[in-house]
Amino acid sequence: MTGTRALSKYWMLTNDFTQNPFPVLEYVRRESPVRELSMPGGGRAWVVTRYEDAKAALADPRLSRDIHVHYRLMSERTGRTLTPPPEEANHLANLEPPRHTPLRRAISFAFTPRRAEALRPRVEEIADDLLTRLAGQPRPDLIAGYADPLPVITIAELMGVPADAWPDFLRWSTALRTHSPTESSGVLDSSIQELSGYMAELIARKEREPGEDLLSALIHADEERRLTSTEILSTGFALMTGGNDTTASLVGGVIAALLTHPAERAALLAEPGRWGKSMDELIRYVSPISNALQRVTTEPVELGGVSIPAGEVVIISVLSTNRDPHQFPNDPDRLDLDRHKPAHLGFGFGIHYCSGAHLAKVITEIGARRLFDRFPDVTLAVDPSQLRYQLSPVVRPLEALPVRL
Ligand code: HEM
Repeated sequence: MTGTRALSKYWMLTNDFTQNPFPVLEYVRRESPVRELSMPGGGRAWVVTRYEDAKAALADPRLSRDIHVHYRLMSERTGRTLTPPPEEANHLANLEPPRHTPLRRAISFAFTPRRAEALRPRVEEIADDLLTRLAGQPRPDLIAGYADPLPVITIAELMGVPADAWPDFLRWSTALRTHSPTESSGVLDSSIQELSGYMAELIARKEREPGEDLLSALIHADEERRLTSTEILSTGFALMTGGNDTTASLVGGVIAALLTHPAERAALLAEPGRWGKSMDELIRYVSPISNALQRVTTEPVELGGVSIPAGEVVIISVLSTNRDPHQFPNDPDRLDLDRHKPAHLGFGFGIHYCSGAHLAKVITEIGARRLFDRFPDVTLAVDPSQLRYQLSPVVRPLEALPVRL
């Protein structure tokens, strides 16, 4: 593989890397597993590529996800005082204990495995409706027409967003895809403003007329569990921004993987009971997030033998940790549905472990399964080498997935 000098200082941010990150990551994991990366706006980050180092980093309270810590660092680097918008600054994903704890507890009731299972019939209906719309098209794109709307509609419905707003939710969600917590200039773009305005109105409506949905449950919770209106709005934001693109990237990635692995696809179709057991291997193999796992050091730390000073950005590369041969010894680059319970980091690790993991698995399983059950002869309409990934600081979605149904 390439020598060290051949990797540019922006090595993880190039289009070549986005299209095929695995050979570079294999090299970095071996030669310099905690490696510096220059950031385009100035400053640097440290990329953690080995599984064990990543777990240690995610369990270490000296590595903070608190958005205020990130913004302080950005302020120092840019010389401008930046403050996070309230939509971003008051939800569990962007805060550390003690504030993180009650915010996480407040939504935990909605994300149990039992609740996720109960949503199955509705997710099937949503998937079927979307597939019916695609059925007449000669070369439908399964990203725009299926993988993108499926989680948006499911999560919007779970939160209690009425159907007439789903197209807007899809638009906002797609626009927010390019948004990274540490890149914000503090100026809200129009999508954040529109989404925020809509959510504020919706929350006010549900205060008066509660429904059987997650937002109503948060608004009308017992006093000791009740969040402020800003926290509820911000939590709604976290679910939208944390759940839509990630799940859309996974649905698209899993379908693409099965379209290009006919033996694995046939095995799943022949034995439907295997879908559930195979989800973790599919998630490990696809790894739908790119650089979403970011922290800032609040004290000096040592990771993988490298000393990192306080006030530095650390990025945990799940794409790399999920292919680390020390953790996944049998050919980690291969999709192996018989791999025994692969303990991947696709949903993170530690106190910020993904709240929506069960729901994401249900949506992805149903999304892929309904497609292959309904259209058993579905094939890619382009050569697999033509599939392109979008450049995004957070997720790793395919640009398009054209098929013949
Ligand atoms: C395939 C789909 C998904 C992936 C790969 C994914 C991945 C992740 C990861 C890696 C984290 C940890 C972030 C960190 O430690 O920095 C996380 C946190 C989170 N995810 Fe997901 N996620 C997915 C779907 C969802 C869904 C469907 C929802 C909810 C509707 C959701 C809600 C959240 C929330 C609220 C957090 C923050 C938890 C906390 O800070 O305590 N995610 N997700």
